[in-house]
Amino acid sequence: MSRTAALEKTARVSRMFARIAPTYDLMNRLMSVGRDQQWRRQVAGLAAPPADGLALDVATGTGDLALLLAERTGRVVGIDPCAAMMAPGTSKMAGTGLESKIRFVLSDAQELPFQDERFDCVTVAFGVRNMADPLTAFREMRRVVKPGGRVVCLEIMPPSGRLLGRLYKLYLTRLVPLLGGLVSGQPEAYRYLSDSVLGFARPEELSSIMEHAGLLRVSYHTLNFGSIAIHVGTR
Ligand SMILES: C[S@@+](CC[C@H](N)C(=O)[O-])C[C@H]1O[C@@H](n2cnc3c(N)ncnc32)[C@H](O)[C@@H]1O
Repeated sequence: MSRTAALEKTARVSRMFARIAPTYDLMNRLMSVGRDQQWRRQVAGLAAPPADGLALDVATGTGDLALLLAERTGRVVGIDPCAAMMAPGTSKMAGTGLESKIRFVLSDAQELPFQDERFDCVTVAFGVRNMADPLTAFREMRRVVKPGGRVVCLEIMPPSGRLLGRLYKLYLTRLVPLLGGLVSGQPEAYRYLSDSVLGFARPEELSSIMEHAGLLRVSYHTLNFGSIAIHVGTR
């Protein structure tokens, strides 16, 4: 895909996220039956930033993972091309005592505005599936992490297996757009969610993309009956 096409996709996807930003966190809690924060907490633990380190959270959205990283490390930068998604992140930080540790930057993961080897770790939660070119995004994440630092990715996986896979597909294609429509008034955004999951890589394919990006010792584990995967790679 050309750079122009990739940037066009970023702009299109950002406009869609801007429309659901006000109810985004509520929908996450409903869709995951309250588990999504546990998954992000696992990611922050696996990223293992030093107490006085600097972490990057790519596709930070409303900043949930950035906040969890800030509890573990010195400073966190969250990047996202959608300002409306990052706005609730700024209000969420108020009163947590973490305000001074987190900075949000408007940026595309496929062209990170940071020098090489700047961060102790990089995380991305529910982000790469939305990008036109996940390989380029992982190359960028590898470029900006220090040697020995980790890149940790949390993502929804397409259904596999027979009975559970079929039930999961029904959940994604029917229940999620229905619930998303009721909560956000934007059913098409939640149809986009199911389409993006169904069209995305399986866990072993995602490992291979990360390896192609130059990450080492890539491993993953799945959660929630295989519907969620956490991948870890090291520079
Ligand atoms: C499903 S949300 C995930 C937000 C957050 N990481 C979380 O854990 O809830 C996906 C986010 O990816 C962002 N995004 C889409 N395309 C992107 C790109 N090319 N680079 C960086 N972020 C992107 C969207 O704006 C949106 O905020």
